[in-house]
This record gives sequence, structure tokens and C-alpha cells, in this order.
Amino acid sequence: MNNTVYVLNGPNLNLLGLREPEIYGSTTLDEIAGTLEDRGRELGLDIDMRQTNHEGMLVDWMHEAQAQCALAVLINAGAYTHTSIALLDAARAITTPVIEVHLSNPKTREDFRHTSYIGMAAARTFEGHGADSYRLALDHAATLAA
Ligand code: DQA
Repeated sequence: MNNTVYVLNGPNLNLLGLREPEIYGSTTLDEIAGTLEDRGRELGLDIDMRQTNHEGMLVDWMHEAQAQCALAVLINAGAYTHTSIALLDAARAITTPVIEVHLSNPKTREDFRHTSYIGMAAARTFEGHGADSYRLALDHAATLAA
């Protein structure tokens, strides 16, 4: 195991800052990456932050995290959270701890957001804290380091 934390972001999260700011806030994904890199330096962790709009890419990156002996995978799977059994299976297929992240709290929103497949395999979930959900998840990942 090394000190790299994969931070995987799914569909539409590239539009953070512009996208429904009343729900997701005005912080961009690049700004979140900067905050995580700063916090990672303090914690002695390397951050590998990525975004894709494609479900299979998230699966590939989870496999890669395992192959690279990453410390943890933080994942905000966006809407795939609520639809993707492939992501659930990927989280179960790897031994790397998976930590689920959401800016909003999906459980207080529309019914179709109340099921989280990835959450069924996640070690922890941080949601409803806006951009700070990522930082809280990273602080938790740090507790997994030897
Ligand atoms: C989200 C919540 C999901 O329900 C939604 O589809 C997203 C963003 C969040 O971070 O709050 O794309 O994952």
C-alpha cells in the first residue's frame, strides 16, 4: 500500500461551479482538487484527482487503484451512484477501501436518489457538506494509512 488517494468524479461534476449552484455550491472541481492537494500535503498523502462522464472509465480507474496499491478510493459517482451495479461490483472486487462522497445529501432529495449502489460497498459515506465532503473523506482516508 502507498500513500496515493484516488479521487474519482463521475458525470457532470466537471460543471461544478456552474451546475445548479443552489444545490452544489459555487466551488469548481479544480478548486476542490487544489484544496485536497493542500490537505494531502499536510497529511502526507498524494492526491490523484480525476473526472469522467463515462461509467466504464470509473470501473477501470477503481481497478487501477487496486493495481497501484492505492491507500483509498474517494468516489463521487454522480448519478451513477443511483444506477450502477457495475460500480458496486467494482468496489466489491477490489480490496482498496472505497469512500463515497457527495456534495449534496441525496437522501434528502428525490426518491430516485435514495438508493446508493456504491454506498453498499463503501467503507464510509460523506455527504451533504458541499465541497467540504471531499476534505472530510480525505481526512478519513488518512486514518487508514499505516
Ligand atoms: C451528487 C448527488 C447525485 O445524486 C447527483 O446525481 C450528482 C451529484 C452530489 O455530489 O451531491 O451528480 O453525487
